[in-house]
Amino acid sequence: MSLALIIPDRKLDDLQQRLALALADTRIEIWPDIRKPEEVEFAVVWKQPHGSLAALPNLKAIQCFGAGVDAILADPTLPALPIARIVDPGLTQTMVRYLDGVLSYYRLRLDLFSASQQQALWQPKGPRRIAHICVLGLGELGAAAAAHFAALGYSVSGWARTAKVLPHIRCYSGTEELGSAVAGADIVICLLPLTAATENMLAEDFFNRLTPGAIFINVARGAIVDDDALLAALDSGQVQAACLDVFRQEPLPAEHPFWQHPAILITPHVSAVTNVATVVEQIADNYRRSQGGEPLCNPVDMGRGY
Ligand code: NAP
Ligand code: GLV
Repeated sequence: MSLALIIPDRKLDDLQQRLALALADTRIEIWPDIRKPEEVEFAVVWKQPHGSLAALPNLKAIQCFGAGVDAILADPTLPALPIARIVDPGLTQTMVRYLDGVLSYYRLRLDLFSASQQQALWQPKGPRRIAHICVLGLGELGAAAAAHFAALGYSVSGWARTAKVLPHIRCYSGTEELGSAVAGADIVICLLPLTAATENMLAEDFFNRLTPGAIFINVARGAIVDDDALLAALDSGQVQAACLDVFRQEPLPAEHPFWQHPAILITPHVSAVTNVATVVEQIADNYRRSQGGEPLCNPVDMGRGY
């Protein structure tokens, strides 16, 4: 029996070696050079080419190599099998640190000073007033980010699909409470999964509901945001600035207007990259579970799509 890694465009030596150590009797195959497709029972995948999972006739379970499973579910030939995703304290900490850094960037007005430097302009100004942060999505990552900022003394609101009670966070849920969640927020952070319900959800209506001059951060998925609506909100000043780590198309095409927009900070999908060392044990554990016919850890709910 074997395990297949279907993770195009990433060096896989480290993952392969660590899995081989953790699962001594299991052959690790690497797509596209899978020698015996009929022997593969478990696949670890990230942005798998459509059809690659359907070509494994005896597959029992699928392990996503990241937190978001939208790319897996987009495959029209996806076999109906249990899917697990990564939930890792190390990944969560990386995301929280990234968001903390972005918050400092805007609080210290580094966006403004960086633009002034391009013109050799000496323009001192005090820090931006950032008092209220809203986090959209209160799952593994969103709840941790919200708790982090609340512990730093910010006023924090959060929004999820279902109602929640979280210490020091004003929680809202459902479409009808989105406006209340973002009301008064100086910074809005998107940590929603990309699903049929969230695709293009953050569009003109949403940006119009924000406090004029709010800052928007998207570290979730690009297709949750209507790009044109965001550009219009930035051009009108309704949104003061945006930090974008994720995009509808990645890499972001060279001609995309986001690249040249003076109010947009772009990072190339790096806010929380899966760390092989911290996730290898949960992948090996899920492999053993699937072999033993046990439910996977961190399962994806196919009905919800995340
Ligand atoms: P998660 O634990 O599944 O949490 C998702 C949250 O979003 C939950 O609170 C959920 O509400 C809420 N939600 C889902 N659909 C909603 C809807 N229609 N309306 C309102 N709220 C909704 O996910 P996570 O682990 O925190 O990760 C979130 C996303 O971050 C991932 O899906 C991935 O796309 C992205 N991500 C990006 C990076 C990066 O490097 N940029 C890294 C990791 C993850 P309930 O709690 O009520 O279910
Ligand atoms: C990265 O984007 C992830 O979903 O883990």
